[in-house]
Amino acid sequence: MSSAEFRRKVSVADILARKRRDKFGMDKRKGQHIVAITSYDYPTALIADRANVDIILVGDSAGNVVLGYPNTKPVTMQEMLIMCSSVSRGSKGALLVGDMPFMSYQVSVEDAIRNAGRLVKEGGVDAVKIEGGRAFATTVSALVKAGIPVMGHIGFTPQTTPSLEGYKVQGKTSEAALTLFDDAKALEEAGVFSIVLEMTTSEVAEMITNSVKVPTIGIGAGSSCDGQILVLHDVLGLFDKFTPKFAKRYANLSPEIQQAIEEYAREVIDSKFPAEEHTFHMEESELEKLRAKVATKASFISK
Ligand code: KIV
Repeated sequence: MSSAEFRRKVSVADILARKRRDKFGMDKRKGQHIVAITSYDYPTALIADRANVDIILVGDSAGNVVLGYPNTKPVTMQEMLIMCSSVSRGSKGALLVGDMPFMSYQVSVEDAIRNAGRLVKEGGVDAVKIEGGRAFATTVSALVKAGIPVMGHIGFTPQTTPSLEGYKVQGKTSEAALTLFDDAKALEEAGVFSIVLEMTTSEVAEMITNSVKVPTIGIGAGSSCDGQILVLHDVLGLFDKFTPKFAKRYANLSPEIQQAIEEYAREVIDSKFPAEEHTFHMEESELEKLRAKVATKASFISK
């Protein structure tokens, strides 16, 4: 589809309809996997939208890949609002989900509704994402009752992982996997429209996918999920400080960008840029007048 063609906006109902398994766990083979990616600004939202992704997530991964924080915890509501509204101006077709930053929903249900409402009203998102399982079921159902669709997020949850623990695969033991399973069921019951499964064993991701009615969207959770999400900067090779094992790089833009900036610097130093085609000129008659005026002023000053 060309960018000029009309693209119908993806709705929460469209995402729910993309669930690939029925309630008996049978593969319905219905529709394609859901494609989701993160974006944090207007130009990349335009591009992701043109690429026809189903969901754009303004993730708090911005803390790492855009804002230069060591993790996602310092990200504020204000920062999320700026990024969400920039992305919403660029994304017209994809369902837009905004991440609730750390401490914007943990203190109270009232806080969660107020902050989620701001992401919708001021940030222009269609839905919000919150990290956590059973412990946040009451919050999820309050948000859904308030009319705000919620995407769940369990498995590796960066907001609550102790800094020293680092990236750790979740659901390796039967107990840990069962906890994830129970969390997913609680989120489903609370009314989420999808669940992100981050860095879990593929076995538990498959069990959850076969057991919940809502689509699962995996990131480092194997191929059984109903959809996949990746961080834009990992896909583009834009952030080379750290790339998780589960991320696949589809381009390597970081060295290309550096090369372009180095070439620009070289041309400035060598007086090759700006060239004639980047330069503005006065009309010859105006230039003549200007020369005459400057000459008069100069002789006046030298007297
Ligand atoms: O913040 C984010 O980008 C996320 C994705 C990794 C799912 O939560």
